[in-house]
Amino acid sequence: MSLLKGIILHGGHGTRLRPLTHTGPKQLLPIANKPMSQYCIESLKEAGITDIAIIIGGLGANKVQEYYDNGEKFGVKLTYIVQDNPKGIAHAVRLCKDFVGDEKFVVFLGDNILKRNISDYVKDFQQSDSEAIILLCEVDNPTQFGIADVKDGVIKKIMEKPKSPPTNLAVTGIYFLTPVIFDIIDRLKPSLRGELEITDSLQMFLDEGHKITYHTVTDYWKDTGTPHDIIHANEVILKDMKPYFYGKKEDGAIIEGNVMVGENTTIKSGAKVVGPVIIGKNCMISPDSYVGPNTSVGDDSNLAKCNIEDSIIMTGCTIDCDIKIRKSIISSNSEIIYKKENGDKKIFLLGEGSKISL
Ligand code: G1P
Repeated sequence: MSLLKGIILHGGHGTRLRPLTHTGPKQLLPIANKPMSQYCIESLKEAGITDIAIIIGGLGANKVQEYYDNGEKFGVKLTYIVQDNPKGIAHAVRLCKDFVGDEKFVVFLGDNILKRNISDYVKDFQQSDSEAIILLCEVDNPTQFGIADVKDGVIKKIMEKPKSPPTNLAVTGIYFLTPVIFDIIDRLKPSLRGELEITDSLQMFLDEGHKITYHTVTDYWKDTGTPHDIIHANEVILKDMKPYFYGKKEDGAIIEGNVMVGENTTIKSGAKVVGPVIIGKNCMISPDSYVGPNTSVGDDSNLAKCNIEDSIIMTGCTIDCDIKIRKSIISSNSEIIYKKENGDKKIFLLGEGSKISL
């Protein structure tokens, strides 16, 4: 059986994640120290899909190419396709017509995190006569997603962010498609938000008598639209990681629970790390530091004095303060420093759209 092709959507403006997305696309934001779109590439690769197109566009598109390059380092072959304007998921898919050819293919939204590998779904799709397979997942906030109305295992209707959702079954951003979709997208009209909606094309699929089936995702799926979603995904991914330790632990340093530590990182005597925690390469975790559960610390960071839980600290950060940092996301090369001699005086140098809760 011929191998499927993969498509990863890596565009958009990530407005709900500003200021984190002022300097790059949201799909490159790290979860457990790895860009979230890398999980999509790994998932496709594990399912045997190595010929992958990445749709780039918007701010920082060049950073995607810089990071993934031709894909060799990740064991895949990458083609970049530019979407000049964010005109919707269906529009992005249509740009891949030549890349896809006559084959079945898989579309993965680069901001969707799926814990389970997609291999079984891919196998099922290869053998099935369905012209599309979607993955559905129960959600608490169905007005925020594409929703499927399902009766007795049959999809009756697919709609985008309905005001009165008939079910709480969200259409996740992983779509198994056939080239039939291209002709449908050509006939699609933009939605009220001015986009060619993938849900509308799937509804046309149904209307025109094509066969769409579904699987229900019962373990973890997350569309990481907000900072809260990213912190949650970070927690879930960290919980499942296998511990490793390539750094140096001084006598008197306390390490508890599942901890992943990269090369050339030192946990000094007196420091306390309670997993699940990941700490990258070349970090210094000093004696007055506490790094608590569900925290990721990127490469080259220096934690002098800190008390952190449930947070993401990206690369090259310096933290030297004894206020408790909780549920926070700190972008690369940031500093949080508290000096006693400043007394009540706080000094801020913040980028546009920064958020501080004191
Ligand atoms: C998009 C789709 C929506 C789907 C969601 C999954 O929404 O339009 O149908 O449920 O992705 O992540 P958007 O993120 O563009 O609001």
